Amino acid sequence: MARRKKIYEGKAKVLYEGPEPGTFVQYFKDDATAFNAEKKDVIEGKGVLNNRLSEFFMIGLENIGVPTHFLKRINMREQLIRQVEIIPLEVIVRNYAAGTMSKRLGLEEGTRLPRPIVEFCYKDDSLGDPLVAEEHIIAFNWATQQDLDDMVALALRVNDFMSGLMYGVGIKLVDFKIEIGRIWDNDFQRLVVADEISPDSCRLWDIETGQKLDKDVFRRDLGSLADAYTEVARRLGVLPSNATHMPKPTLIN
Ligand code: C5P
Repeated sequence: MARRKKIYEGKAKVLYEGPEPGTFVQYFKDDATAFNAEKKDVIEGKGVLNNRLSEFFMIGLENIGVPTHFLKRINMREQLIRQVEIIPLEVIVRNYAAGTMSKRLGLEEGTRLPRPIVEFCYKDDSLGDPLVAEEHIIAFNWATQQDLDDMVALALRVNDFMSGLMYGVGIKLVDFKIEIGRIWDNDFQRLVVADEISPDSCRLWDIETGQKLDKDVFRRDLGSLADAYTEVARRLGVLPSNATHMPKPTLIN
């Protein structure tokens, strides 16, 4: 079989050409990075967990009518996705202050925000993904005003869905990031949720104890990242309730 063509390799995922035009295969790596890749490690099993969790969230979103790039999971580490034109913005929704918002505005982490707040960062690693205003987005033609309105509406629907899902299993959705892509249907454009939704891109705190169950465990050296992600997957029923860890791969002779 011919080696498949690599389209793009990012910090946590690789995109390959898909089996049909307009599709890609998205491969989830075990690599963990933080602070614009200044901190790096390999967390065994992370890619498998994020593949399963992102599948679970994307299917749930599709089921309530929120369009996504997800088509189907292929195996432990790969999913088939629609090829989209990624809008070069990270769309962040925050329910509680944390991370860079806490630093920027001097708010104690965990402070409930008066309403969900949507922020945009320009996707450029060399600049450290700077926060930008709607003015920049429109002036520099990264998206139109109509796109922006649609992106905010999409992000808030994802927030409602994810907040409710997490609340049901005793987890507070503090904030998250999504990426949004365009799909062209002749001249008609649709915006869809793209990339991934996983504990790599959300802040998830246990409602009772405040324990962090997301990538901050890695960023802040708070323990085992694989255990935290396994706990999220177990609570959501994505893993059997008695699973303590994803099984290690075994060699087939
Ligand atoms: O770092 P900050 O507080 O701005 O992050 C807000 C949310 O966006 C967090 O859930 C974080 O995990 C996510 N994020 C991300 N990728 C980035 C920046 C932030 O997934 N490059």
